[in-house]
Amino acid sequence: MRYSLRQLQIFRAVAQGLSYTRAAEALNLTQPAVFTQVRQLEAQIGSPLIERIGKRLYLTAAGEAVQAAARTVLQEIERLDMELAEMRGMVRGRLRLAVVSTAKYDIPARLGVFCAAHPGIDVALTVTNREAVLERFAANEDDLYVLGTPPESLGAEAVRFAENPLVLVAPPDHALARQAGLSAADVARWPFLMREAGSGTRIATEQFFAAQGVPLTVRMELGANEAIKQAVIAGLGLAVLSRGTVELELRHGLLAVLDLRGFPLRRHWYVAWPQGKRLSVAAQAFVDVLTA
Ligand code: PGA
Repeated sequence: MRYSLRQLQIFRAVAQGLSYTRAAEALNLTQPAVFTQVRQLEAQIGSPLIERIGKRLYLTAAGEAVQAAARTVLQEIERLDMELAEMRGMVRGRLRLAVVSTAKYDIPARLGVFCAAHPGIDVALTVTNREAVLERFAANEDDLYVLGTPPESLGAEAVRFAENPLVLVAPPDHALARQAGLSAADVARWPFLMREAGSGTRIATEQFFAAQGVPLTVRMELGANEAIKQAVIAGLGLAVLSRGTVELELRHGLLAVLDLRGFPLRRHWYVAWPQGKRLSVAAQAFVDVLTA
């Protein structure tokens, strides 16, 4: 072989953040050392992997191919390390987890249980919306993914592990808050606050109202559940949110759940991974905690 695992590791770090400086920080190396390693890898491979246009770095087609292979090879090595550690009676290693933004209200408590049981495992948690989680899934960037519906077309194994009902919320003094059996048309007369495009919560909300044949008036689009909650409390509109995101506000009387027919929307949390991928010891241990 013309190049080493270390070179692949360094290249992966540069390719991930498209920055020599950030890769150097992450790997505890100097920036020139990282730069030299990448240049040597390019010389050994015989084609440029990274190009600089203006101030930005871009991966060449060869760079993208090397990045994908480096990811697979290094994940396999990490998996092997964990298996060997397990044979010595220790579970140690790294768990890379990507979860949709809404799951950040659910996953940390489960991670608490997991980390207490497996103190030798470091966890890297990425929180982003559904669309971005699916991109990470397609690029095989993490060990496991947590979403509100399994990735449909990506060839996934998925296990359901908890309920995730979606509720329609309003300020407690809202005119609809005291009415029972509201129809979709009743609530659609009021302005709605929506998550950004690519959000799983938004997709589920749009599907529900589309199925009822009722168009929604979206007053504002906000990129986070927290921002939506604050805007609903401020009286800017109604919103559909995962019940887990509003537990505290409901308990303290800052928000009320509206009695909309067909709601709560019954949804679940799924943990998923690419079909055929061999789970690392850490990933399997986390799936076991989720489904226990
Ligand atoms: P979101 O996903 O955080 O992107 O809205 C939630 C879900 O998929 O249920």
